[in-house]
Amino acid sequence: MADDLPPSGGFAACETLAQTVPVLLLSGDSRPDILRRAMRAGARDVLPWTLPPADFAAALRSLPIAAAPPPPRPARIMAIAGAKGGAGRTTLAVNLAAALAQRTGEPTALLDLHTQFADAALLLGLTPRRTLADWVSLAPDALDTRFLEDYAEPHESGLLLLAGAAAPLAPDVLLPETVDRVLTQLEQGCRFIVLDLPTVIDRPMLAALARADDILLVADLFDLPTLAASRRWLDALLGAHLAPDAVRVVFNRVAPRSCLSVADGEQVLGLPAGALIPNDGKIVPASVNAGVPFVLSHPGCAPARSIAALAHSLSETEVPHAMPRRRLPLFGRRPPPPPPPLSMGGEPESRRRDKS
Ligand SMILES: Nc1ncnc2c1ncn2[C@@H]1O[C@H](COP(=O)(O)OP(=O)(O)O)[C@@H](O)[C@H]1O
Ligand SMILES: [Mg+2]
Repeated sequence: MADDLPPSGGFAACETLAQTVPVLLLSGDSRPDILRRAMRAGARDVLPWTLPPADFAAALRSLPIAAAPPPPRPARIMAIAGAKGGAGRTTLAVNLAAALAQRTGEPTALLDLHTQFADAALLLGLTPRRTLADWVSLAPDALDTRFLEDYAEPHESGLLLLAGAAAPLAPDVLLPETVDRVLTQLEQGCRFIVLDLPTVIDRPMLAALARADDILLVADLFDLPTLAASRRWLDALLGAHLAPDAVRVVFNRVAPRSCLSVADGEQVLGLPAGALIPNDGKIVPASVNAGVPFVLSHPGCAPARSIAALAHSLSETEVPHAMPRRRLPLFGRRPPPPPPPLSMGGEPESRRRDKS
């Protein structure tokens, strides 16, 4: 910059700029007094106006380059899914979101996509002022950058709850386009987005799954029908709708003396266990009933420790699958293809026969 800039001269401007960037002062005056003032103002050097361009370029190159701030990390969407009610999806969703918000301090949203009998708010002890019932029938365009501000309920852990509908709404009221739009808005303001998904496989749920970076399929090891349903869920969605490496199986309520072992579960599902959440028949139901996630009230209990480890692995590792997020054909103008048949694989059938 030049030493004679109006209004207060180059020295004043140099003093301000030098606090954040390296400054070279150009001057037609080479008296020692000018040099002293320039140094006092924080200039790295004083160069004559008449400096040849090549020397000027060399002087510029010699300046230390301030490291550019790292770009903000993109939002990571984690879908908590399950083939049967009671598997532990909401329990995992609220505790995972609370653990992510509390441990990372990063903006974290929990989106409950139940249009009927949503209960994530209950498990968080919240009475939300606004729910999915308030935004579900708005035009997707109306869900703008104020979406979080307008509809989220803050929780003491730091997470922001987008509550599902407490009373049942009309079928088909939630459109896949709306789910897509909501996720886009949440991605603007959040680093982590946890989805509590219903068990039904419909277009809005496929829209949510298509946007998810991680899909956690929750299955418990209490009985074979629950495992068999999880296997059917995988058969219906893997390949056709989901990349296999995006799905992580979470076995919930794992106990040493369960009827079915983790190895049984892995064999039926044909996937390795991605996480194990131990059964705790005292702390977990008490936390659910009190509306306080156990990762906050009992951080040392076994289920809390395994969910904290899962939160750590999800927040510290890169998204596991190389596939970019896909827009599924269901967003095209043509009607969606019928879902693949929900057929049982041969493996579980034969296991069922073995057991009987
Ligand atoms: N790890 C666990 N140990 C003991 N009980 C559990 C565990 N996970 C879930 N539960 C119990 O199962 C019930 C159903 O879980 P929930 O998360 O509501 O299932 P979903 O959302 O899949 O229908 C909870 O109210 C809780 O009491
Ligand atoms: Mg639930």
